[in-house]
Amino acid sequence: MKAILDILAARFGALKPRHAVILGSGLGSLVEAVENPLRVAYGDLPGFPQSAVSGHAGELVGGTIAGVPVLMMSGRIHYYEKGNAAAMRLPLEVLKAFGIEVLVLTNAAGSVRDDMPPGSVMQITDHINFSGENPLIGEETDQRFTGMTSAYDPELAAAMHAAASRTGTPLHTGVYMWFSGPSFETPAEIRMSRILGADAVGMSTVPEVILARFLGLRVAAASVITNFGAGMTGNEITHAETKEMAPVGGRRLAAILTDMLAAEGKNNG
Ligand code: HPA
Repeated sequence: MKAILDILAARFGALKPRHAVILGSGLGSLVEAVENPLRVAYGDLPGFPQSAVSGHAGELVGGTIAGVPVLMMSGRIHYYEKGNAAAMRLPLEVLKAFGIEVLVLTNAAGSVRDDMPPGSVMQITDHINFSGENPLIGEETDQRFTGMTSAYDPELAAAMHAAASRTGTPLHTGVYMWFSGPSFETPAEIRMSRILGADAVGMSTVPEVILARFLGLRVAAASVITNFGAGMTGNEITHAETKEMAPVGGRRLAAILTDMLAAEGKNNG
């Protein structure tokens, strides 16, 4: 951890970001919103996990968005890559130790709602951990009993909505259900998820939210809808479709996040 922090301090030290954004599959283009970007490859950070999934770069990008210092993780490792729900623990601990207070998580997800088509952006207001996994299993301090009642920070959620309306960008809200992946869901699982209260399904984010709350970071999260859930159309779901469709909603999400960060900067002087 010390070695990583030294490298980050040398590269991004003057920036002092308090906001970090984790980019989901196919959402790497969000880094284009970063002004004067500085980069560090995960491979240069000792012990830092690399995602081997196509559509995920592997670098930290630091810079400003609308003048507000920000750190972006372009690429993240997933539970399904190694079966380790705590795979993102070190990166999140690093962000925390580097001074990050607000974490914005993004992902590509499937919609289980007819009125939320591909290209939509959905603010995550709550989640269902359907995987049965938890990144805090094995943690030995009482901190493991992390409260999840307000996991998705209400103030940040309001700020995201305000940014969406200021920029005229449609923003859905809903519950995200975590499936382990990497196979996609079956039509029966999609029907089940809808009955259980989900609006979108995906293979990430939930373990990061749990870890972030454990570490005391404030969390906002949004899904970019890349497809309807299995069985909702006649089509098979593919990763190629995820990568192809993510930039469509990604542009909308970039508009929202840029405005949200600009407002955060004003509020926090
Ligand atoms: N299911 C799970 N994860 C996903 C999907 C999906 O339909 N689309 C993009 N990520």
